Amino acid sequence: MNTTSKLLDIHGLYKDFRGVEVIKDLSLSVCQGERHAIIGPNGAGKTTFFNLITGRYTPSKGDIYFEGRKISGMTPHRINRMGISRSFQITNIFPGMTVFENIRSAIFSKKGIRWSFRQRVSTMNDVNQETEDILKLIGLDSQHHLLAGSLDYGAQRALEIGITLATDPKMIMLDEPTAGMSIEETREIVAMIDRTTQGKALLIIEHDMEVVFSLADTISVIHYGTVLASGPPEDIRNDATVKEAYLGEGSTC
Ligand SMILES: Nc1ncnc2c1ncn2[C@@H]1O[C@H](COP(=O)(O)OP(=O)(O)O)[C@@H](O)[C@H]1O
Ligand SMILES: [Mg+2]
Repeated sequence: MNTTSKLLDIHGLYKDFRGVEVIKDLSLSVCQGERHAIIGPNGAGKTTFFNLITGRYTPSKGDIYFEGRKISGMTPHRINRMGISRSFQITNIFPGMTVFENIRSAIFSKKGIRWSFRQRVSTMNDVNQETEDILKLIGLDSQHHLLAGSLDYGAQRALEIGITLATDPKMIMLDEPTAGMSIEETREIVAMIDRTTQGKALLIIEHDMEVVFSLADTISVIHYGTVLASGPPEDIRNDATVKEAYLGEGSTC
């Protein structure tokens, strides 16, 4: 494969906590524009893997490259500035601010616009327009004046993804975005993720197989901290090892 098209490139990654290896010899890459889903049983190391990419944890061994630059060892803030944006299950949201203000403050932060410049009408018009565009994209334009804390769960998750998008990232990382959602909320958020990540690199941890198979170009199965299988959805669906270890098929009883 042409290595220059690899946005994220990881070889032989390890992480242990007090001698317990949670990530073991994990290798994975994400190309430009690829939507890559990570599946695997609870405790397999998926969230730890995300924490390693975003700089919250430092690998015990192995390096992580983003656009050809080594990012392992950088601070989370720096990694974020390089274009990796991760949603943190609602914790990004300011509940006492309106939906509109939440998105707008993410745009201010992305652009590094200081308070004195926020007073300029032209700056404000541009940023307000950009904010409205994102609100439309995430389907919250009619609720823009509501306090974020008053939104229902599904809408808060949508807002959270909107905040992630507002930083115009090169790669979006979502950790189980449909967790705790009703069927209807899941359907809406998946359609929204699909709409907003067209042509962008997406790394998504998701347990709902229907969601995974409808969104992903590539699926990697993580089992005991390593990649058990990786490939297009159809290959993964038909992979005997995956069926046995994860999809729950192939059992004799
Ligand atoms: N900071 C930590 N300290 C010790 N153990 C941890 C830490 N973070 C994760 N783990 C352990 O790593 C394992 C994998 O957890 P996690 O990455 O959350 O799995 P998953 O997201 O696949 O369900 C678990 O056994 C968990 O207890
Ligand atoms: Mg997890």
